[in-house]
Amino acid sequence: MSYKKFVEGLPKAELHLHIEGTFEPELMFEIAERNGVKTKYASVDALKNAYRFSNLQEFLDIYYEGAAVLLEKRDFYDLTAAYLKRVSTENVRHVEIFFDPQTHTDRGVAFSKVIEGILDALADGEKEFGITSRLIMSFLRHLSEEAAFKTLEEGLKYKDRIIGVGLDSSELGNPPSKFARVFAEAKKEGFLLMAHAGEEGPADYIWEALEVLDVDRIDHGNRCLDDDVLTAEISRRQIALTLCPLSNQKLQVCPDLTKHPVRKMLERNLLATIHSDDPAYFGGYMNANFLATAEALNLSRDELVRLAENGFKASFLDEAEKNRHIEAVRAYAENF
Ligand code: ADE
Ligand code: ZN
Repeated sequence: MSYKKFVEGLPKAELHLHIEGTFEPELMFEIAERNGVKTKYASVDALKNAYRFSNLQEFLDIYYEGAAVLLEKRDFYDLTAAYLKRVSTENVRHVEIFFDPQTHTDRGVAFSKVIEGILDALADGEKEFGITSRLIMSFLRHLSEEAAFKTLEEGLKYKDRIIGVGLDSSELGNPPSKFARVFAEAKKEGFLLMAHAGEEGPADYIWEALEVLDVDRIDHGNRCLDDDVLTAEISRRQIALTLCPLSNQKLQVCPDLTKHPVRKMLERNLLATIHSDDPAYFGGYMNANFLATAEALNLSRDELVRLAENGFKASFLDEAEKNRHIEAVRAYAENF
């Protein structure tokens, strides 16, 4: 079947998206110029040429470099507004966005500028495009537990506008258990919990995210199929795995998308979902991720519908909102 039209109109939820990873080179150069910041790259094309990664760390080095031109509240507003405008053309109905405060506060940018710029754009995006949103504060796992605690404390001032906390950055050598106490404190404060696990790291890291951190959702989780007991447990608890196929391809987690685990995960009754991670760096937003996966795995229409439904099911919307979106997905498929 021709997937393109079907995917384009399918109502979708984005649950794994780093707002800093939506920084398109054109906007990066514009903001760098207005802030008087010099970038390492002479042109947009030179920067795009650098987007070739052989692992997660190579990507992260460039991603942090790019984020360093963001200085003012307006910059964070513009970044988020540009993202929402973009996905409003892809029938993305709901977004749950990560931001990495430490990437900015470590450079002397106030936490308030970062979060208030993002929140203002999310509020305007809902008014303009009807896209609902939730915000997730992510800790950088290559930094210390103490630094994460400091970030948690800053986040508490915005507790009513942050739905949960996450864990991202360099996975290997920084297991979830390093942040056990921070996550316990975050849970006590009422935050929902999630962690990147099993992207480059082993299945054991997914176990830690589940058993030590007690997460509500796993970001990536590709490696869970290495462990049958783990797979059965994630299926039993219906813990969502927010997969990002184009990210996996570009970071060499899964260079050949015909070998992507998402279909096997659906067959094993896992709550697998598809998202875009850092779309400005990995060559595509939600539609591109759905499309590339559908083509590589020859997914059926029912499998695509299930993936779209899973996105809403795994979201942090309330049950009535989830059901409304799931009904819209089903109605769309029936009438297509
Ligand atoms: N930060 C932004 N994107 C990430 C990814 N794919 N894995 C870990 N940390 C990230
Ligand atoms: Zn991610």
